[in-house]
Amino acid sequence: MSDLTELAVWSALKHHYAEIRHQHMRDMFNEDQQRFDRFSLRINDILYDYSKNHITSETLGLLVQLAEQAQLPRWIERLFNGDLINNTERRAVLHTALRARAGDEIILDGVNVVSEISHERLRVNRLGEAIRTREWRGVTNQPITDVVNIGIGGSHLGPLMVTEALRPFTLHDLDVHFVSNVDENHINDTLEFLNPETTFFIISSKTFTTQDTMVNAETARQWYIHKVGSAEQIQRHFAAVTSNARLAREFGIAEDNIFKIWDWVGGRYSLWSAIGLAIVVAIGSRQFDQLLEGAHDVDVHFRQTPLERNIPVIMAMLGIWYNNFFNAQTMAILPYDQHLHCFPGYLQQADMESNGKCVDRSGRAVDYSTGPVLFGEIGIAAQHAFFQLLHQGTKLVPADILAPIYTVRCIQRHHRALMSNVFAQAEALMRGKTAEEARQEMLATGMESAEIERLLPYRVFPGNRPTSTLLFNTLDPKTLGSLIALYEHKIFVQGVIWNINSFDQWGVELGKQLASTIRQELDDGRTVSGHDCSTNGLINYYKRQRPVNRQQT
Ligand code: F6P
Repeated sequence: MSDLTELAVWSALKHHYAEIRHQHMRDMFNEDQQRFDRFSLRINDILYDYSKNHITSETLGLLVQLAEQAQLPRWIERLFNGDLINNTERRAVLHTALRARAGDEIILDGVNVVSEISHERLRVNRLGEAIRTREWRGVTNQPITDVVNIGIGGSHLGPLMVTEALRPFTLHDLDVHFVSNVDENHINDTLEFLNPETTFFIISSKTFTTQDTMVNAETARQWYIHKVGSAEQIQRHFAAVTSNARLAREFGIAEDNIFKIWDWVGGRYSLWSAIGLAIVVAIGSRQFDQLLEGAHDVDVHFRQTPLERNIPVIMAMLGIWYNNFFNAQTMAILPYDQHLHCFPGYLQQADMESNGKCVDRSGRAVDYSTGPVLFGEIGIAAQHAFFQLLHQGTKLVPADILAPIYTVRCIQRHHRALMSNVFAQAEALMRGKTAEEARQEMLATGMESAEIERLLPYRVFPGNRPTSTLLFNTLDPKTLGSLIALYEHKIFVQGVIWNINSFDQWGVELGKQLASTIRQELDDGRTVSGHDCSTNGLINYYKRQRPVNRQQT
């Protein structure tokens, strides 16, 4: 047994689960009219309602005890102080420093990282603003109309998600595009209508070795050179964000256009760093500051608020409750704001790359379940796609619902329809519909009793399906920054409870290694035999169908 499952509070929670599992949330609400007030919290413009969860005050008390016994407060300090908590890579984890206040001091290896960050941010802002204000000119002296961010994973999903979320804050005559897939269709479709003389590329790659990004970067460079000019001239059309400046220089990028990302910034936590250059181009440096400000507010809340009123802690502990005691395997993220359409995808990497681990911090296999399968979709679209399973399926899928009180133009007809769904779905998932209610409903339509009895089993909703709702005033940069930071800290807390390192990602290495071997095998006409028969069969079929053509590179 692991240390975690041996804790007395773990057994207490198991016990409590056995007592509470058959209670219906509908009854909990009937018995306690104050439930919403007791189980909701606020930070800035965000209201977090977690009352529609399968909890009582006792549950929360036990979950907080669990967090205390896992030494969460100490871990929070270790995170903010820059301790080497990414133990497998011997690195600090300091994305919170990226949104610290300018005068703050966070010392790492004798250096105040906050000053370094401010210096780099000034450089990023200078380039970003120069592009936005048309001061920056391409080689033919034309202003930039299109910026293409080439990156993948954390060097793509964060900037993409934020840029989409903050569309109302972007300029109409400057488009920011994102290319991640090494499938040529992605870059070809993006470049098809662009003018190389007015296009600027940002090669975002912490390592500057990620195959997908480097293949796309090379295609962008060739496209530019082929259409406009020599390799030397790429300097006014390319920038790099990387911790590997040497490789960026070798690629041909001017020293002034190389922006630094430190090893203590994890890829999936990097949008606050120079990886946010595409965001600065899209929304401007002042709005980017607001994004940082929103995240900073959550950092302060996370660090200073007692665990029982600490929003990321509650979010995390509810996840632990369902994951480890209700045996829920999944978690749904359901934004109802269209501009958050990339949020579930972004969180998938943040959560699953962080907590999809089966070995604990001491190198032992865990004997409990860790990170859930996270999925999601715009709520309204999901209602007409997979909500059937949420309402009547055999699986428990805890869900987060995110919705705005004001949208850009706030057309009432749209917004009232939207919000009626937000409230209705959470209520329906919680209350369900009893057999008696379903029977009465059908009776009221004049349906014959035989038909009523035939349909009855299908028209009952079990309910008791947990949701938490995050209602925010409007999706502005500050609120978005706060929302992202809430989830970042939630992920961190869960990693602490599960005693795993949320900041490495060894699990992505094996596929990369095999791909590099297979990449070479695809380059000649020989039959492949070194893999299992399925992999050999697939590769050889592919090679027969598409023989190597030396003319095509
Ligand atoms: O494949 C995993 C990963 O290492 C992510 O963690 C990272 O965000 C992504 O690849 C991109 O890495 P890089 O920024 O070094 O190109």
